[in-house]
Amino acid sequence: MSTPSRAYIAGKLRSFAMFGDLADEDLVILAEMMTFKRYAKGAFILTQNEQGVAMYFLVSGRVKVSLASPEGKELALNYLEAPAHFGEMSLVDAEPRSADVIAVTDVEAFALDARDLSSAIQLQPRLALALIGTLSRRVREMISRLEDMAFHDATHRVMRVLLNVATASYESSGVPIIEGLTHYEIATLAGTSRETASRVISQLGKDGVVGTKGRKIVIDLLALGQLLESN
Ligand code: CMP
Repeated sequence: MSTPSRAYIAGKLRSFAMFGDLADEDLVILAEMMTFKRYAKGAFILTQNEQGVAMYFLVSGRVKVSLASPEGKELALNYLEAPAHFGEMSLVDAEPRSADVIAVTDVEAFALDARDLSSAIQLQPRLALALIGTLSRRVREMISRLEDMAFHDATHRVMRVLLNVATASYESSGVPIIEGLTHYEIATLAGTSRETASRVISQLGKDGVVGTKGRKIVIDLLALGQLLESN
């Protein structure tokens, strides 16, 4: 495996909003703290309950954050798309890894060793704010999910997952699409069966709220938002 140059790593780090305003020389110092990692599709990048020794900056590909029950059942917590970071929780609270993180596609990431986190924050204090921002967003997502589990049925939860994923896509790339997620993966995020997820998506298609383009699902964000409000 060829190791990319510091300049390549520094260039990739620029795509993270939190590093956007760093001076070139500081970005190079930061790049020197990072180790380039490559994972094949299906590989476990982090395993729940292990000790955390590094956090990761995802520069290409997609990962799944999930929990597995002793019987082998899976609960997907989230899918993260580059640029994104993960593995910071056990570094900041010194507890074991909270979940598995699995490569859904081939993945490239930069690992920042736990011992270098303080130096990285001194170099770029916005990193600390970005980590807090991510944690706060995740708590909000969990609250919303808990609310859906307690107060709403599976149809509503599937619609919520579609709206959340398509909104994230709209915010990052300007198009409200769901790409690369199977109906099974949508179902695990919604805490329901694949059959239910497919039935809901098919009904929304008949209602003109979602459309399919090959393997992509295109969402009418406004219409789906209104449907959720009234449901
Ligand atoms: P850590 O606990 O060190 O290892 C597992 C990582 O998964 C965790 O840090 C977070 O970065 C990430 N993670 C845990 N829960 C969620 C979630 N609900 N959404 C997105 N990422 C998560």
